[in-house]
Amino acid sequence: MRKFFDFSDIRGEDLEKLIDLALDYKTGKVNDQPLLDKNIGLLFNVPSTRTRISFQTAIKQLGGEALTYSANELQLANKESMKDTATVMGKYLDGLVVRWYNMNDYGYGRNTLEEIALNSQLPVINALDDKDHPCQIMADVLTLKEKYGQQYKKKKVLFTWGYAERKKSPGCTHSMLTAASLLGMDLRIAHPEGYELDDQYLSFAKQAAQKSGANIEFSNNLDEAIEDVDVVYAKAWGSLSLPGYEEQQYKSEIRDQWLVNHERFARANQDAYFINPLPIIRGDEAIKEIIDGPRSLMYDTAENRLHVQKATLASMYSKDKNLQLV
Ligand code: CP
Repeated sequence: MRKFFDFSDIRGEDLEKLIDLALDYKTGKVNDQPLLDKNIGLLFNVPSTRTRISFQTAIKQLGGEALTYSANELQLANKESMKDTATVMGKYLDGLVVRWYNMNDYGYGRNTLEEIALNSQLPVINALDDKDHPCQIMADVLTLKEKYGQQYKKKKVLFTWGYAERKKSPGCTHSMLTAASLLGMDLRIAHPEGYELDDQYLSFAKQAAQKSGANIEFSNNLDEAIEDVDVVYAKAWGSLSLPGYEEQQYKSEIRDQWLVNHERFARANQDAYFINPLPIIRGDEAIKEIIDGPRSLMYDTAENRLHVQKATLASMYSKDKNLQLV
């Protein structure tokens, strides 16, 4: 059965086609209903606003029925196994969109997605686990493509770590690194020491960038990394190496050095955009004036989630071979 957990199995040209398909849904150029008579389950063990609602709407607009389940309202809450839950879901549904992770146990989320796909025998889409958030990053790339056209690959995108009290998934960071390396983008990732990415993603990106011509850089200094960039994407993620209490204290100490404020944003290009995938607490990754300012694309990228979800679903369920991209 087909699954879409990350970008590692997709060719750069197909990823580009998927993003273009999302634009075709947005502009109304494509208007089909590949989910007619399909029941798609949304299974989440952590909260979601954008992913959950955009998938519900996308499924409905593609002719299907979206059925949403929180883990705590299923018998999972009474210790029923995921094997039994997924196997039974496979008897009723036609596909699953799953958000599942626990950041105190890196890898558990992805293993759970694999277990769900294996036992349900359904197509499964990753709606954010502890490793990737592909649907978010496709929406971000679509947003950049709308702003810059094909020149988006020549624009310097800074993806920087920022503070959040909550230990967030590094899914967006891994997915951006993978997407940029496949698409041939110019990406700089900045983070404090202790927030290094998963080695597997670093190795994949290195190889993919050699093929695509992508330029991928890393920095441990936001003041330097933000210099002359065209896009500032600020996003918190949890450390994969620091123990819980130690990380909490450490990130509180360094948060001011990693805040996108007026002084730092002024070091980027004059017409630089700001992106965050939301949710964001004003004053954590960036100051309110930048988050709500005229260069912020956060609502544009949130809107694009809907169109990207439609493209992703269509590419899994369409009978048109040309649309089967993932
Ligand atoms: N960006 C994002 O995935 O938002 P939600 O957590 O609200 O789904």
